[in-house]
Amino acid sequence: MNTLAGKHLVLGLSGGIACYKAAELCRALIKSGATVQVVMTDAATQFMTAVTMQALSGRPVYTSQWDAREGNNMAHINLSREADAIVVAPASADFLSKLLHGGADELLSLLCLARPIDSVPLIVAPAMNREMWSNPATQRNMAQLRADGVHVLDVGQGDQACGETGDGRMLEAEEILDELQAFFTPQVLAGQQVLVTAGPTYEAMDPVRGITNLSSGKMGFAIARAARQAGALVTLVAGPVNLGTPRGVRRVDVRSAIDMLAAVQREVTQAQIFIATAAVADWRPDTAADQKIKKDGSGATPQLAFVENPDILATVAQSPAAQSGALFCVGFAAESHDLLAHATAKRLRKQVPLLVGNIGPSTFGQDDNALLLVDAQGAREVPRASKHDLAHELITDIARRIQSVPV
Ligand code: C5P
Repeated sequence: MNTLAGKHLVLGLSGGIACYKAAELCRALIKSGATVQVVMTDAATQFMTAVTMQALSGRPVYTSQWDAREGNNMAHINLSREADAIVVAPASADFLSKLLHGGADELLSLLCLARPIDSVPLIVAPAMNREMWSNPATQRNMAQLRADGVHVLDVGQGDQACGETGDGRMLEAEEILDELQAFFTPQVLAGQQVLVTAGPTYEAMDPVRGITNLSSGKMGFAIARAARQAGALVTLVAGPVNLGTPRGVRRVDVRSAIDMLAAVQREVTQAQIFIATAAVADWRPDTAADQKIKKDGSGATPQLAFVENPDILATVAQSPAAQSGALFCVGFAAESHDLLAHATAKRLRKQVPLLVGNIGPSTFGQDDNALLLVDAQGAREVPRASKHDLAHELITDIARRIQSVPV
């Protein structure tokens, strides 16, 4: 399930240095399967050429309400009726004030005003200097625009093109993409608290060495992102991975299985859903040396002994909340063969209602995967797709289960 696939968006650019990010955004939207019609104000064309935006969107850009390409010469009507949403990024202070007053003296504001207000949402990504952003006039305008039903995205914080530092930067293209995916995602987990574990664990032998595994954490991070986009409040307990935190997700970094168990036990009291995707190390060295274990030149090798790690999922699944049904637990199984048999056995052993099987060697580190959803009734295959799409599919499936809707 890809929420932007097949959506038609009008991407409006008003004048601001953040126009350069609109180029990336346009690319990302197209890559997500949307079609994009770019409309630019005169001021926007000072920052970015229409040629660039045409090349990225694959469609001629509209810059004038007098564009003769439209048979009826009503670009503002035609463009706004075709759209699933209008996204103005960047939205300058001046453009936002024009929207607020219903101004319509050029094509972009004209088509925003002319849009069917109940069926074509308007989403704006403000971009301006920090003083302009914090000015009471702008803040008043934002409050009124929200009250008028405009979906106003947050602004970023940091260095600004003018050399100042503060609030008012436009969100990065990837962050806006995330917000747009969330906007179009059915809010099936609205208000639910979801706890996800992801990545490998690292079990120290000494201060510089340890054992770990090849889990990249990508599947768990995609699930955390999808749950947030579906309206959940998400906490992600992550082992050592090299991944950015999904937007809007609270992240707790841990290293070892023991640390992960402690973090999960602390966080799970708030949760209604627990999804254990982490590849937790089965064993850890029974002691971790305080100092680096040195080679002594004799050819002797360290004599390591291991102890079994706690099973985090099984521990949580035995808690009163899980046993009473107040906490829905989902496990993962990374196997190399006989997926159905192993996943079925693992579900029973861990005592969880849903166990998600996947073939480890063909998915570790990759951006795609295929899943086998195993429950008490049987198994359902979810064919190979991006981890993003699979995560949304899984979240939809879990939401149906906790609402007791047949899956
Ligand atoms: O036993 P196995 O590692 O194959 O089980 C996989 C499932 O159990 C995954 O959901 C994983 O996150 C969870 N698990 C755990 N704690 C462990 C081992 C596995 O939570 N020590």
